[in-house]
Amino acid sequence: MKNNHWWKNAVVYQIYPKSFQDSNGDGIGDLQGIIHRLDYLQKLGVDIVWLNPIYPSPQVDNGYDISDYQAINPDFGTMADFEELVTALHARGMKLVMDLVVNHTSDQHEWFKQARQSKTNKYRDYYVWRPGKNGHAPNNWGSYFSGSAWKYDQQTDEYYLHLFAPEQPDLNWENPAVRHSVYDMMNWWAAKGVDGFRMDVINLISKPNGLPDGPRSANALYGDSSVANGPRVHEFLQEMHANVMGKHRMVTVGETPDVTPDDARGYANLDDRELNMVFQFEHMGLDANEDPALGKWSLRKVPLSALRDNLSKWQTELMGTAWNSLYWNNHDQPRVVSRFGNDQTEEFRVRSAKMLATMLHMMQGTPYIFEGEELGMTNVRFNRLEEYNDLESVNAYHQLVDEQHLVDGATMMRYLQEHSRDNARTPMQWNDGPNAGFSSHTPWLAVNPNYPQINAEAALADQDSIFYYYQRLIKLRHTLPVITDGDYALVAGNEADEEVFAYTRDDGHTRLLVVTNYTSKEVTRSYAGPQGAELLISNYNDDQGEVLRPYEAKVYRL
Ligand code: NOJ
Repeated sequence: MKNNHWWKNAVVYQIYPKSFQDSNGDGIGDLQGIIHRLDYLQKLGVDIVWLNPIYPSPQVDNGYDISDYQAINPDFGTMADFEELVTALHARGMKLVMDLVVNHTSDQHEWFKQARQSKTNKYRDYYVWRPGKNGHAPNNWGSYFSGSAWKYDQQTDEYYLHLFAPEQPDLNWENPAVRHSVYDMMNWWAAKGVDGFRMDVINLISKPNGLPDGPRSANALYGDSSVANGPRVHEFLQEMHANVMGKHRMVTVGETPDVTPDDARGYANLDDRELNMVFQFEHMGLDANEDPALGKWSLRKVPLSALRDNLSKWQTELMGTAWNSLYWNNHDQPRVVSRFGNDQTEEFRVRSAKMLATMLHMMQGTPYIFEGEELGMTNVRFNRLEEYNDLESVNAYHQLVDEQHLVDGATMMRYLQEHSRDNARTPMQWNDGPNAGFSSHTPWLAVNPNYPQINAEAALADQDSIFYYYQRLIKLRHTLPVITDGDYALVAGNEADEEVFAYTRDDGHTRLLVVTNYTSKEVTRSYAGPQGAELLISNYNDDQGEVLRPYEAKVYRL
């Protein structure tokens, strides 16, 4: 392992600041709240904390619409609070990764306010402006959040591009002044002690030449912008590396939708020219597109074979050349125990949460734990549209139900219950007190009603909890180099198994066998109880050899 690849055996904990811990009783989480909870994170054993955006923002997209890159949102605290957090993390040997959102700004950012004033304003070219075509938008692209990706601006009689909400205008990366403004800002945060960046949709920054219409699938209102992995993206990232990353000992992770392992070898090559790792979405898309016009909105359950094929492909294709993030959850995804596990009974919730953690944490890559995952927090499943805050969910409901009549309201509510981003964003469940110990005030988003049973205080008091299981998995990664570096192989005969996922890791010194039962049934596999092997971790208290009980997970040293 190259010396400066310090992040290779690190474990990241993702904090959604708005929902983690409120310290001043306004119903919104904040930096002091995070500082109060650092002992908890240290106990879990994580190395890096990634914060979702904490900059000033109108919060149209919960902070992914930034109006000032070099300040702290007053809802979260002050710059002094931020500095205190950096110092407190470093004192505990932990690092801080900030969210870098530079595909777009808020429409309230000073650059955009200036840009929309006139066609000759010095910031005009910071954004992507085009005249209309026959009274319509410049091309047929749809926004990720429903509707057209273009907004007409009366003042200068042109349209601007917004791949996300209209309040999130895209920056024009063709303009070197934009790029250098971003690099300066990154260096400014590095000087404040930030240890790295998670880069929001970073592979969308280079738009296709000429901004051509995209293909439109049946029933879709708009064309697909196909903006991922554009013509100059590698040039831009190499330039960023030369101006920023090459000067600091930082870790960078690129959020990269629509990438293949081949693309990832470009972005996250171990030769250190661009990013350290990708955060890709192929395994998150396995339950989507049952109906292409509905995209992620479905109730499809992912068969184990599809999940295994995908995870295995990424393991083998990056081995030795590039680096991947390992994750089940983030602030944009439903809760994994409700999605790939089983939250129907308490027993199955706990067993399946540990099983999924085992499956992922014994792989190669950098694991990310999203707040509450270590407690086995579940989807919230709101019953009324008004309870949802997330604009993606609310817009999708209106577009698919009210505008296009592609689904009825009740079906769409079921889709939201399984896939809305708000499932991840409900407040952290600390204890069984009012508002789950998150705040003394009514929280900005309702707490999951299961908090009296599922909360950190209960988990910390139970040696068998999911929390302590994650703690042990993290410790194993920190003590066994094979988990970071070893070769990956499927167990012979496991290739098409729909019930059990079994693989080995081998670095020439140590060989691990990982066996996970993905089902709620008891099954038997001949390789599941190897003679004389040492059982390193399991989610049952005894070992029944070849017999695998519901959601049983075991890791052996062979
Ligand atoms: C990806 C972020 O994770 C998501 O939360 C956000 O809405 C979009 N990028 C737009 O910034």
